[in-house]
Amino acid sequence: MPRERVWFDCDPGHDDAAAILLALANPDRFDIVGFSTVCGNALLVNTTRNLNHLLSYVDHVVAIHAGASHPLIVSADPQSGAHGISGMDGFHFENESCPVDGDGIVALKDACLNNEEPLTIFALGPLTNIALLIRTYPQVISHIKQVVIMGGAIYGGNMLACSEFNLYGDPHAAKIVFDTADQMPIVLAPLEVCKAGATPLNRFDAFKSEGKLNQMLDGLFTFYCRYAIDRHMDRTPIFDMLTVAYALDPSRFKWMEHPIDIITEGEHTRGMSVVLQQVSNAKNVRVLHDCDGQWVNDTFFDSMHRLNAMLH
Ligand code: BDR
Ligand code: CA
Repeated sequence: MPRERVWFDCDPGHDDAAAILLALANPDRFDIVGFSTVCGNALLVNTTRNLNHLLSYVDHVVAIHAGASHPLIVSADPQSGAHGISGMDGFHFENESCPVDGDGIVALKDACLNNEEPLTIFALGPLTNIALLIRTYPQVISHIKQVVIMGGAIYGGNMLACSEFNLYGDPHAAKIVFDTADQMPIVLAPLEVCKAGATPLNRFDAFKSEGKLNQMLDGLFTFYCRYAIDRHMDRTPIFDMLTVAYALDPSRFKWMEHPIDIITEGEHTRGMSVVLQQVSNAKNVRVLHDCDGQWVNDTFFDSMHRLNAMLH
């Protein structure tokens, strides 16, 4: 199987980190071309620093690119509940060895255009950078293999009654992106598939074993799991990780294909993703709704075990 050229647009975020590590642990499958950051779980300065900490810690020292510092129209609304004040609490990182440049959208445009192989973009935060990319440089669209987005919900939400955090974070950007579904393939991993792939909390005990990576993962996920424990849940979704799991083996997922409309306003509906289930047309998005959760988790923990051994 040829290696897939991939780009991470992210707002780390514990689950963003998990997604990136899952790709790094599978170098035979993914050629990671670059990383851009966006304001989401925390302000841009924090998400960029968190990405730098993560990549430096695992000795993947590459240039990283900061993208949009605020959503297109609404104000930034970082949430410290799940990810802490830094946006990725739970482990004390020391090094920031990756050079940072300030133009994530230009870097992503170049990554699209500078190679004949089309690019897969994992979009793990609010869609501000992706909307700016396709609006500013529409010529990139034909160079995108697919955009695999974590966001939205078929029913309900986790931020408002009817909306999920990433699409709530920049609803106008989300609308632009889903309106482009007739020009580039979009795969959406909404809350439902993340719940289907949720991780039993006792599986995180694996990170209590020896090793440099385990030490970091134990710190990060002990913090992350507190959110579930406080709510008497015995498992937690590692939301963003599902996008990379999907790219590793789509046959482990179930989906439906329909257009998506985004409600940009409303006390209960800002960022709501309306899956138009009675419609099927050129704007269809591949909406994942179920997966083989056992496979997802076995794949994630096996991959972390391998990466931990590689980093010894
Ligand atoms: C999404 O919001 C963020 O908190 C996570 O990183 C994930 O991208 C889940 O709703
Ligand atoms: Ca995220």
